[in-house]
Amino acid sequence: MKLTFLGHSSFLITIGSSNLLVDPFFPNGMPQLECKVDYILLTHGHQDHINNVDDIQSNHQATVISTYEVATYFINKGYKGIQMNHGGDIDLPFGNLKLVNAVHSSSFPDGKYAGNPCGFVLTSADKCLYIAGDTALTYDMKLIPMTSEKLDAAILPIGNRFTMGYKDARIASDFIECDKIIACHFNTFPPLEVDKDEVTSYFAEKGKSILLLDINQQIDL
Ligand code: NI
Ligand code: MN
Repeated sequence: MKLTFLGHSSFLITIGSSNLLVDPFFPNGMPQLECKVDYILLTHGHQDHINNVDDIQSNHQATVISTYEVATYFINKGYKGIQMNHGGDIDLPFGNLKLVNAVHSSSFPDGKYAGNPCGFVLTSADKCLYIAGDTALTYDMKLIPMTSEKLDAAILPIGNRFTMGYKDARIASDFIECDKIIACHFNTFPPLEVDKDEVTSYFAEKGKSILLLDINQQIDL
């Protein structure tokens, strides 16, 4: 499983021949994607998570996977989509995808109802990744290690204000029993500013690793 950070909460995840794009939002211009995107995973309807779906779709015609409300919104635009809801999972060519709880809100940029926000647990043949989406620290995270394979890594928001901050994210890493954290939702805008060194050492104090990737930085899980 290869993971490329595209900024804010957007990641390109490559599993075998499948390419998954999470929460496309590119305020500094579209990324140069060298692959065909097969699936777009959306955690909720907020603008900073769905803003560039249409731009991606003009070249990629990917299948949008999200909650019932968000997937339906994009199906109604003529895109392929898979509607899910919390607690459900589906088998896809790249592995199993489960839609899990997130504590946040969700509406479309025009203010219309977008259902409840979500996270995902993605289980491929050899790796298991939790994508938290925008969320507060929540006790529901304790359900993840009870119901999934041992996590190899987790993408957690750390920017505070609209989601949990990095101190709560460290507690979240205990709840999900995963000490390899990939940060998202930080440093995009002034209210989300974090000091990278401060965050890294805060996690290191407890023997945990947190990666605050640069835009376009790629890692192998
Ligand atoms: Ni949000
Ligand atoms: Mn957000």
